[in-house]
Amino acid sequence: MAQLISGKEVSAQVKERVRAQAEELKAKGIEIGLAVVIVGDNPASRVYVNSKKKACEAVGFNSYEYALPEETTEQELLDLVQVLNNDPKVNGILVQLPLPKQINEEAIINAISAEKDVDAFHPMNVGKIMIGSYAFLPCTPAGAMELIDSTGVDVSGKNCVVIGRSNIVGKPMAMLLLHRSGTVTICHSRTQNLKEICRNADILVAAVGRANFVTADMVKPGAVVIDVGINRMEDGKLCGDVDFAAVEPIAGYITPVPGGVGPMTIAMLMQNTLTAAKQQNGLG
Ligand code: GUN
Repeated sequence: MAQLISGKEVSAQVKERVRAQAEELKAKGIEIGLAVVIVGDNPASRVYVNSKKKACEAVGFNSYEYALPEETTEQELLDLVQVLNNDPKVNGILVQLPLPKQINEEAIINAISAEKDVDAFHPMNVGKIMIGSYAFLPCTPAGAMELIDSTGVDVSGKNCVVIGRSNIVGKPMAMLLLHRSGTVTICHSRTQNLKEICRNADILVAAVGRANFVTADMVKPGAVVIDVGINRMEDGKLCGDVDFAAVEPIAGYITPVPGGVGPMTIAMLMQNTLTAAKQQNGLG
């Protein structure tokens, strides 16, 4: 039986740390602001944006929502990003992805000031992560790392396998594990012998986007299993990338879905916004 890693508990600890620091800054006259931009009415995006606004309230940040219509042009969004880049009340800018197809996501990400890029998607911040000298870590991998740390398992020297090679999760996750001196393998849709490679993992991170992709025969007994997947099933239920019922008896530690990595992502966004505010006020 695996020990459950509670994203609810660990995220509450992170948010409490952030709230206490935000309170200290407020006492010095510094208020923290996060701008959240949503374009169109993707229902999943709406849920995420509402959660981000609620988290801001809980930690004492100001949140500024910009809800733009589906037909917004790239130039209109670029213009808004410029306004937010220049607004001193705004310490962090988050443009919720995906964007409608007439808008080039890369152009928008590149336009966000690197100092306010609390998603850490800007090429400058991505490059810093590669070098290992970073202010912001992308929220989902950073949250997954906090969960690994909460187990007390030391990454150094361990076999770490990341399934998925996205820019947002797989690649930065691999880099964070490498910075901790893990021996890291990145697997993807073309990987041969996937089962054998995964079965060798002391730490297995699944970021595939396919429900129940990781089965019991892919997991080493006692492994730390981190499930980044959030898949909506036909019955409306959320399901991870890991077949939880089958893997839980084998793993040493496992994250549930929901209640695992999901709440961590938002907690790390709050942490990044705090870091941005500190740096912009010469306190970083
Ligand atoms: N859409 C899904 N996840 C994310 C995220 O972490 N940041 C942004 N900006 N959009 C997302």
